[in-house]
Amino acid sequence: MRITTAIACPNIAFIKYWGNRDDLLRLPSNGSISMNLDGLYTQTHVIFDPSLASDELILDGASTQGPALRRVSTFLDLVRERAGLRLHARVESSNNFPMGAGIASSASAFAALALAASTAAGLELNEKDLSRLARRGSGSACRSIPGGFVEWQAGQDDETSFAFSIAPPEHWSLADCIAIVSQEHKPTGSALGQALAYTSLLQAPRLADAPRRLEICRRAILDRDFSAFAEVVELDSNLMHAVMMTSNPPLFYWQPATLQVIQAVIQWRQEGQPLCYTIDAGPNVHVLCLELYARQVKESLEQLPGVEKVLIAMPGGSARLL
Ligand code: PMV
Repeated sequence: MRITTAIACPNIAFIKYWGNRDDLLRLPSNGSISMNLDGLYTQTHVIFDPSLASDELILDGASTQGPALRRVSTFLDLVRERAGLRLHARVESSNNFPMGAGIASSASAFAALALAASTAAGLELNEKDLSRLARRGSGSACRSIPGGFVEWQAGQDDETSFAFSIAPPEHWSLADCIAIVSQEHKPTGSALGQALAYTSLLQAPRLADAPRRLEICRRAILDRDFSAFAEVVELDSNLMHAVMMTSNPPLFYWQPATLQVIQAVIQWRQEGQPLCYTIDAGPNVHVLCLELYARQVKESLEQLPGVEKVLIAMPGGSARLL
């Protein structure tokens, strides 16, 4: 038995995925667009081992049980079923960035696991089928399989719901300056939050307008049109957070420092700097700008009270085997 190792980057969504048409298959209610984040990664080793009586999970060096292990085991069952394999696996995974704080660690985790586990099981999946498999672990993970700027087409069923690259990483030197305001684990993980999306009155209008926002965002990326991009990215993030805040029970992922960063970004833009913000299911703020301005944006963000540190990530590549 051979250890297989894979790495994958997290991604930041520009047009967000929030809510499923089918929770079991993780078929999303709307398509989404994202960028992989270079320099941040999850590295995962998988070995299917006849001596194991059950699956084992080691996360950042610590043996892990409970819901995290069950989620990984359920995912491994899909791989075992496809490969006709009955062996248990040892999965060892580590991140070089904080988990559960608005940098989608589940995306890189399940993308790396999909690639490492399917390869270790002897399956040779193409990019589309890897993306479909990763989707079953965490929706956004399907977008961390292809490289660069990525679109996940919602699709009709398991076969047609997968992600593909719309432009390679070198297409546009967009920087994501991630203002970390908290490294704590978020109280409601995105999988639970997603299940509440339809309890919000605002989810239906958000979904109805999604094809228009997807088209504007796709076009803005292909044309490298920062001002059209900035407008649609902020609108889409605000719409998702409006749905979260009006769900039952309501979800508030922001902290006071989150709003301070939003207000600073709006003010700096009014003063002429080309930048915009987007926020996932956590308090940290992703401030997007061209690479040219990234250092200056990082310095400005670091001056704000409540910002603990700022990471900069450029467009990243696809998931790969080591
Ligand atoms: O894949 P999940 O279940 O972790 O959901 C990700 C949800 C957001 O990060 C908030 C949006 C997105 O499209 O990545």
